[in-house]
Amino acid sequence: MSVVKKRETFSSGLAVFFATLGSAVGLGNIWKFPYLTGQNGGGAFLLVYFCCILFVGLPIMLSEFYIGRKTRKNAVGALEQLKPGTSWKNIGLMGVSAACIIMFFYSCVAGWVYFYLFKAIVGDFVGVTLEVAKAQFGAVIMGPLSPIIWQFIVLAVVAGILTMGVKQGIEKITKTLMPLLFVLIVICDIRALTLPGAAEGVKFLFHVDFGQLSAAAILAALGLAFFKLSLGMGTMMTYGSYFTEDNNMFTTALKVALSDTLVSMLAGLAIFPTVFSFGMEPTAGPGLLFMTIPLVFSQMPLGNILLIAFFFLTAIAATTAMLSLVEVPIAYLSEERGMSRKSAAILTATIMFVVGILATLSVDKASVLGHITFFGMGFFDLFDYISSNILLPIGGLLIALMMGYSIKREEVVTELSNNGKMKVAALVNVYFFLIRYVTPLLLIVVFLSSIGVLKF
Ligand code: PHE
Repeated sequence: MSVVKKRETFSSGLAVFFATLGSAVGLGNIWKFPYLTGQNGGGAFLLVYFCCILFVGLPIMLSEFYIGRKTRKNAVGALEQLKPGTSWKNIGLMGVSAACIIMFFYSCVAGWVYFYLFKAIVGDFVGVTLEVAKAQFGAVIMGPLSPIIWQFIVLAVVAGILTMGVKQGIEKITKTLMPLLFVLIVICDIRALTLPGAAEGVKFLFHVDFGQLSAAAILAALGLAFFKLSLGMGTMMTYGSYFTEDNNMFTTALKVALSDTLVSMLAGLAIFPTVFSFGMEPTAGPGLLFMTIPLVFSQMPLGNILLIAFFFLTAIAATTAMLSLVEVPIAYLSEERGMSRKSAAILTATIMFVVGILATLSVDKASVLGHITFFGMGFFDLFDYISSNILLPIGGLLIALMMGYSIKREEVVTELSNNGKMKVAALVNVYFFLIRYVTPLLLIVVFLSSIGVLKF
């Protein structure tokens, strides 16, 4: 028995764009992108990353939009409708699991960000030294109670927004916050780029030296493209199912990918000139964000205001990305399991909180949970590894194989051309070439290397 409910959609092309961009832009842009770019040869890595976005990211994003909008269903229901009675629907179930697993650690890091924002507002970072900044980071992540409380707050905020639905929740928040994020990051850029010695940081980011580009760096670029654009786990399918009928999905995919990359570069341009200007280590990873940024801004005129702006924009980025992550299980539970949106949101957030605590507490290596390891990884790293290195690439590969070899070309043409309203034949040819041959091949290489079967 199926109950036909009126399903929500986004109200305009602009809403589609901001919501989808809100999913793509996240913690990945603020620290992962600049850090990996810096570590893997700067400009050369950037060029490879662009190619990965083009040849892997865009075709998979378009596939997910297609699956979602054609069926107007959650990730599991969509695949079941597209290929009834087959096992392709497991891609959707894998996506629901991946969304939860990513959230176990993502909500933990987002909790730190919220906590830092709070600390910046109350002036905790005014005049800090390197030692104090390091000690503060240690205190924040080791809690043990405060990071759990902040993780709870993060999940309550995300579940609360999602309970309000697609238009009143996701659309309203992303349409307001994404432009604000852009303005804030540009303000931070202006400050960073006018610092003495800023040019060193810019050079570090854009200097092309192919000599430094290892095979591992190419694989890192591919993996980053995947995680950055929220692909391989049903997020873009779910959002696609809310797209408007007349949305040009080719341009949406292109605009989202380009804007996301622009935000990543703006983040790099805010971080590296500052780091170089103050003579710090550019390759500090997550610590770069949490330890050096407060230190750096605390020593500047108007520093505390900029610091608040910086952590506010990071919190926005993390929150809008989490909306899309948590929407995957919520859409599934409410459409396939007959739950109300509210109960689905509460159940999902509760599971993410309870298991997420394991990730949060495992960060303190001296604690009881910090001692539990699997293949040498604690809970936090394990959740990251299983989702990013295993579930997303497999999900992406399966989507590529299904679209390339099991879906009729005419159906794709009809959907992507909005029922013949647009001329898309040439673009669809390019799409099928990529999704059949290029994308799966690249993904197999990444996957085999990430599990260590293929070594370079
Ligand atoms: N794209 C987000 C980021 O860069 C993370 C994300 C991954 C969001 C998968 C949704 C799905 O932070």
